[in-house]
Amino acid sequence: MVKYQLAILISYLFLSVVIAARLRVCSGNSRKFCYNGKQVYLSGMNQAWKFYAHDFGNGQYSSSKVHLESTLKQIHKNGGNSIRIWLHTTSALTPRFNSTGHVVAADHCNNHIIAEMKEYLCAAERYNIVVFFVLWNGADPNWWRNFQWARQFNGLITVDSKLQSYIDNALIPIVKGLKTFSSLGGYEIINEPEGILFTAANSVACFDASRLAGSGAGFAAQHQFPNLFYMHRLQRFINWQANAIKTHDPNSLVTVGSWRENPQYNNGPSNTFNYYSDHCLIQAGGRSLGTLDFYQIHTYAWNGAYSTTSPMVPTNSASLYQLNKPLVIGEFSHVGSDGTRSLIQLVEHAYNNGYAGAWSWHALGLYHHSDPLSPQLLALDAIRWRPFVRLVLGVVNINCRNPTIGIFDIRRDRFPVQGRPVRNQCSLFTRGR
Ligand SMILES: *[C@@H]1O[C@H](CO)[C@@H](O)[C@H](O)[C@H]1NC(C)=O
Repeated sequence: MVKYQLAILISYLFLSVVIAARLRVCSGNSRKFCYNGKQVYLSGMNQAWKFYAHDFGNGQYSSSKVHLESTLKQIHKNGGNSIRIWLHTTSALTPRFNSTGHVVAADHCNNHIIAEMKEYLCAAERYNIVVFFVLWNGADPNWWRNFQWARQFNGLITVDSKLQSYIDNALIPIVKGLKTFSSLGGYEIINEPEGILFTAANSVACFDASRLAGSGAGFAAQHQFPNLFYMHRLQRFINWQANAIKTHDPNSLVTVGSWRENPQYNNGPSNTFNYYSDHCLIQAGGRSLGTLDFYQIHTYAWNGAYSTTSPMVPTNSASLYQLNKPLVIGEFSHVGSDGTRSLIQLVEHAYNNGYAGAWSWHALGLYHHSDPLSPQLLALDAIRWRPFVRLVLGVVNINCRNPTIGIFDIRRDRFPVQGRPVRNQCSLFTRGR
C-alpha cells in the first residue's frame, strides 16, 4: 500500500513538468481547430458510454475499459481523431453528494475517478484521439423519476451553493488532474440542456426561452417544475462550470451540445437565438471566463425530414448560423436522418461545408437513433486521407507508462437501478489484476 502511494506520488511529481500540446482554436481562423499550428478537422464519433453513467468513478472503469479502449483503437484504425464520452449524466453514480445535496467529492472512492479518466486519456493518447468529456445530460427521460437523482441534479441547477460545491469539490480536482494530457480535448458542460428547459418568456433577450416553445424543448421532463428549468439557470450552470475549467486549465476547450440548431444560431429566424453566446452566458452567471470555445449542434430528422435549418440539409453550411467560433455537428446518424443519403455522404457533407468536425451517434450502436459501429467506422475511413483529418498527438504523458494505476472492487449495479442507493465499499484489492 505504501509502495502504491509512493508510485502515485512520484507520477504526480513528474506530471507537473510535462507540458503537452493541446487542441485549440486556430489563431489565424476562429472557426477551425489547430494542433501544434496545423489545422485539424474533428472526425470522430460519440462513444457515448459503455455502462450509462457508470464508466468512470468508484473503480467502474475496470468494467468499461475493454470496450472503451477497443472503440478508441477502432476509431484510430479507421482514421478518426476524436471522441465524445459522458461522465456524470444525471448523478446516478458520481459525483458524491452529502445528505443536504452538496457535492463533497468527485466520486465515492477518494476521487479515484481521476485515475480512471487518466487511464482512458492514456489509451486515447496511444491512438492519437482527442477526448471530450460530457459532464451532464439534459436529455435523459428517466432522470426525474428517480427521487435521488432528481433531488441532486435539480439542486445543482437551482441552488448556487450546491453548484459551487460541485465545482470546488469535484470539477476543479478533475480539471487539475487531467490538464497535462495532450489527448484531452476538453469538456462539454451538458448534453442537450434544452431537454430540461422551461420555455418561459423573459424580458431579458438572452433569457427569453419562448422562442423555443413548440420546438420540442423540455422533452426530457414531462412535468413543469421542478423538472424543467429557466434558461438563465441553465446558462448560469454552464457559465460557472466553464469559468472553473478555464481558470484551472485554460487550454481545455469547452462546449455545449444543443439538441438542434435553434439555440445556437445568430441572426436567424424568430424561433432561433444564440443562447450560449459569451454575452448571454456571462449575463446569466457573471463569471467572465465562463464562455464556450466552440459551438455544437445535434441533428436528427423528425418524421423523416430534417428541419429546413438543419446543418445536414444539403444546401446549408456552417456559415448559416453566423457563429464566430468553430461549429461541430456533435450528433447525427443515418437511421436518424431523412434517409436520402448514406452515412458516408452525411460525413462528407459535414466535412465539405465549413463545419469544424462531426461525431456520429454512437459507438455502442444500441437504442434510438444509433447506427451500428461498423458503418460509422467506414464513414470515418472515407475521409481519413482528406486534408486536416490526420492528428498526431505530441508529448506522451509520463503517467501513461504504467496506466493501470489501481483497480477498486466495488459491489455496484452496472445500470442505474431506480430507488436503490449507491453503495460505497471501495476496497483496493490488486494492482494491475
Ligand atoms: C454538506 O456540504 C455542505 C457544503 O460543504 C455543508 O454546508 C453542509 O453542512 C453539508 N451537510 C451535511 C449534512 O454534512
